[in-house]
Amino acid sequence: MGKVNPEAFEQLITPCLLLDKDILERNIERMHNKALSHDVQLRTHLKTAKSVDVAALLKKYGHTGVTVSTLTEAEYFAEAGYDDILYAVSIEPSKFLRVKKLYQKGIKLKVILDDVEVARKLAEWASAETCPVECLIEIDSDGHRAGIAADDAQLLVLARILAEASHVTLSGVMTHGGGAYYCADMQQARQHAELEREQCVKAAERIRQAEIHCPIISIGSTPTVVAAQSFENVTEIRPGVYVFFDLFQMGLGVCSMDDIALTVLARVIGHHRKQNRIFIDAGGLALSKDRSTCDQKQDFGYGLVCSVDAKPILSNLIVSQVNQEHGVINTTDEAMFDILAIGSLVRIMPNHACMTAAAYNNYFVVDGEGLEVSCWNRCNGWSQWC
Ligand SMILES: Cc1ncc(COP(=O)(O)O)c(C=O)c1O
Repeated sequence: MGKVNPEAFEQLITPCLLLDKDILERNIERMHNKALSHDVQLRTHLKTAKSVDVAALLKKYGHTGVTVSTLTEAEYFAEAGYDDILYAVSIEPSKFLRVKKLYQKGIKLKVILDDVEVARKLAEWASAETCPVECLIEIDSDGHRAGIAADDAQLLVLARILAEASHVTLSGVMTHGGGAYYCADMQQARQHAELEREQCVKAAERIRQAEIHCPIISIGSTPTVVAAQSFENVTEIRPGVYVFFDLFQMGLGVCSMDDIALTVLARVIGHHRKQNRIFIDAGGLALSKDRSTCDQKQDFGYGLVCSVDAKPILSNLIVSQVNQEHGVINTTDEAMFDILAIGSLVRIMPNHACMTAAAYNNYFVVDGEGLEVSCWNRCNGWSQWC
């Protein structure tokens, strides 16, 4: 990033989110090139950005298919004109009606499921409502979370129920190799990426051998997609946090500090010299209590303290403690009390961009030299988007 004029930030109410547009665009371009070179669709998971402005940058590269983690996001992106949406959290009956409203608006929504009972209920409901539903089966490729294993006998039972249902289209299989978050280095992440690919392809092949149509094979997390060397037989990838990256991804070796596009702008609000403590106005709500770097080689506490031009003040100057509205920086370096005078601005690099961003309704966009006048909105929460 170029030299930032600190004056540009003085008007902002802290804490707030700063988004470096140059870094964001570079991250998107890099992922676009990877998808292009492997001939796979890029369906970015927008659970991190939750922003139509970020989606617009993806659209610039021709990527109009999106992934979402809530129906609120689906409604938000639908309203902005995105009609190819994968809702990548298990569907269950209480959400069918909300799903129907999206279909009625012409949205090509895809839902996911991994349960035979839910499949039967979905088939009955879709037929009773004459509501055509498109779905993917979620595959458990690494024991990380939800999904049905590729070699589970129930996989074909599930596929058959969906394929035979009058108003349901089974479009394929998807998996999220989230176990990669526990990899120690890129070599392990590469192996994990191959496991994710192999298991999802295996599930699709079993379904196809049973003469059931299964065109889509959708995989991805940021570490697996960045590390992957092969996407053989895969049709689409769904990384999400790569648009912003964060300290946790850096600890995995998936990005460098220069790739982190998101920071929290905060202000120093107090000193306690005897206790070697400096207080900022970004606490647990503003930074999140995500401590995901705690088991990595470098533990960044609740975030890395940077100057207004997003450079670390010291490599180990971190927010070490948080209360709701207080962040605490512990330091025995007397000079820090002058550098971080009360009222001065700092930028905190987050451990986990998705969690930190969740507390904010908008991004203030830093454009190389300074600050754009406009800010970008986000869609938070779970209620009906309106
Ligand atoms: C189903 C699914 N797909 C894709 C992703 C994107 O992974 P990442 O956050 O590592 O980019 C997630 C993240 O949780 C997910 O749950």
